[in-house]
Amino acid sequence: MSQYLINVNGAAATVESAGNVPLLWILRDQLHLVGTKYGCGVGQCGACTVHLDGVPTRACITPIAEVGQRRVTTIEGLSAHGDHPLQIAWQELDVPQCGYCQAGQIMTAAALLKKSPQPSDSEIDAALDGNLCRCGTYLRIRAGIHRAAE
Ligand code: FES
Repeated sequence: MSQYLINVNGAAATVESAGNVPLLWILRDQLHLVGTKYGCGVGQCGACTVHLDGVPTRACITPIAEVGQRRVTTIEGLSAHGDHPLQIAWQELDVPQCGYCQAGQIMTAAALLKKSPQPSDSEIDAALDGNLCRCGTYLRIRAGIHRAAE
């Protein structure tokens, strides 16, 4: 076990863990930030997407020892009051069905909008390609991103 000082959603947090424990479990089990979801555990589905220094990252395959001083942002830290334009658009357009994958979808979409404030359909499809939705809400996700970009 080692101690790690990490920066999560703008606050410092000290956690104790083996170095190979994925960031996902530190967030969920130690910091109680359960918006970040466990889907596949092998970097394939995107449910666990968080930002490390603004870059969408799979928390399930990121060992805590590799996080370092990069700023971790989870869905809880994306906006102060759940009012990021994507979160508002998601509610207005009823984007989620079961909702399980949506935090990961929104985190990936937020990084896309930072890079490309008015993304085309093909840019959206390419950026969100690695975020799977078993309910098939892809068209609503795309519409939500366009709404947030308005
Ligand atoms: Fe991390 Fe699926 S749970 S990519």
